[in-house]
Amino acid sequence: MIENMFTKLIHFIRLFCKKIYDRVKLNLGIKTFFIQSKYDVKYLLNKKIIMPLHKRLENYLFKETIKHYGADYKWGDQKSQNLDKNTTNYGYGLFHHAIVRNQRPKRILCIGSMYGYIPYMLAKACEENGYGVVDFVDAGYSLKNDNDQKTHYFGQGFWNKNTIKKHFSYLLDTAYLETYIMTSEEFSKKYHKRKYDYIYLDGDHSYKGASLDIKLFWSRLNKEGFMCFHDIHLKKEFFKKEAQNVDLEFGYRVIWEELMGKHDFKFELSNHYSGLGFLQKL
Ligand SMILES: C[S@@+](CC[C@H](N)C(=O)[O-])C[C@H]1O[C@@H](n2cnc3c(N)ncnc32)[C@H](O)[C@@H]1O
Repeated sequence: MIENMFTKLIHFIRLFCKKIYDRVKLNLGIKTFFIQSKYDVKYLLNKKIIMPLHKRLENYLFKETIKHYGADYKWGDQKSQNLDKNTTNYGYGLFHHAIVRNQRPKRILCIGSMYGYIPYMLAKACEENGYGVVDFVDAGYSLKNDNDQKTHYFGQGFWNKNTIKKHFSYLLDTAYLETYIMTSEEFSKKYHKRKYDYIYLDGDHSYKGASLDIKLFWSRLNKEGFMCFHDIHLKKEFFKKEAQNVDLEFGYRVIWEELMGKHDFKFELSNHYSGLGFLQKL
C-alpha cells in the first residue's frame, strides 16, 4: 500500500516538473536580439570593450615609454622628436619603428641619445620582428662637464652614471640591444667588420663630426639600407634663445643641403624645427 502511494507521488512529481518545463521558455531572446539588430555581438564587444581597453593600455604604455626613455628630454620638449603627448604620437620614433618593422634589418647602428628613446624604439621594433640587433653607441658626454662643452650636444652624462642594461630592460627584451660607451670613431675602429641595414646618426652634430660619421659609416651600409640624420633643420640660434650658456654648432643643416643630388634616394620628414633626413643606398 505504502509502495503504491510512493509510486503515485513520484508519478505526480514527474508530471508537475514536465508541465513547468513545458511552460518556462529558457530562450530569453538575447541572441535573437543581437542577430536581428544591425550590430552583431563581436562588433559590439570590439567597439565597447576591446577598443576602449586597448586605447587605455596604449595611453599607459605611451606615457611610460616617453617618461622612462626621456623622449621629451625630461624637460617637456615635444618638438625635437616630433612628439604629441595629447594624441599619443611617438613622432619620429614611430617612423623609425615603422621602417624597421617593414625592412626587418639584421643589424642597426644608432649613435647618440639623451636617455635612450630612439635606441629603444629601434630595438622594440626588432623585438617585435623577432629579429635584428641595435648597436647603440654614445660617448657619454655631459652638459655639466667642463671638458665636454664643445662635444656634449645636450648629453646628460646619463650613460656613465646608470646601469645601462637595467635601464633598457624596461618594456624591452635587452637581447635586441647592445650598448657601447665610446665615440663613434672608436667604435668604427673596434668593430670595423660590422655592416648595417639601418644607421641613425645623432651624436656629434658639428659639421666636422657629422661629416666624419657619414664618412666612417656610409661604406658600412648594406645595399638598400637607410642612413638617417636627426636635426637636419636645426639652427644654432634656437639654442641661443632657449638655453642659456649653450653655444654649439649644428652642421647637419649644411651637410643636408650639400648632399642634394649626390645620392640615389633622399627624403626628409620636416617638422619645421629639428627635422629627420634619410638617404638610401640603392
Ligand atoms: C643627447 S644626443 C642629442 C639628443 C638626441 N636627439 C636624443 O633624441 O636623445 C647627443 C649624444 O651624442 C653623444 N655624442 C656626441 N658626440 C659623440 C661621438 N663622437 N660619438 C658618440 N657619441 C657622441 C653625446 O654624448 C650625447 O649623449
